Amino acid sequence: MALYSEKVMDHFRNPRNVGIIENADGIGEVGNARCGDIMKIYLKVDNDIITDIKFETFGCGSAIASSSMATELIKGKSVHEAMRLTNKAVVEALDGLPSHKVHCSVLAEEAIQAALKDYFTKKGLPFLTMPMTHRADCSCHEC
Ligand code: FES
Repeated sequence: MALYSEKVMDHFRNPRNVGIIENADGIGEVGNARCGDIMKIYLKVDNDIITDIKFETFGCGSAIASSSMATELIKGKSVHEAMRLTNKAVVEALDGLPSHKVHCSVLAEEAIQAALKDYFTKKGLPFLTMPMTHRADCSCHEC
């Protein structure tokens, strides 16, 4: 059996929503202390709807595929729906990741959460994070 699903390979080879957004309404940047990879997310929000989202990553293929899928999953959704996006949902949408690569999907989720937090902060609104129980299947021991 192949290590990576066809969806992972597709999003790795043809990543969606790569780039930056000038004058973004929310920007989030996070890094993974274990592998040193970095992820940056840009959001454009209109009337609480995410009208555009872009990402840049200095990361592995799984991080690229995870970011690509994660941005597709929340593009066009409300900021509140986006807050509920979990790395587990991203992994499921990719038809799975090897267990030692699940932490790469966490990086995408964390970058989106950071961008949403930035958006809420700029609007002067409180940002309540989701409980992190969904990360139980990540093996990195850091999230
Ligand atoms: Fe670092 Fe994948 S190995 S994000």
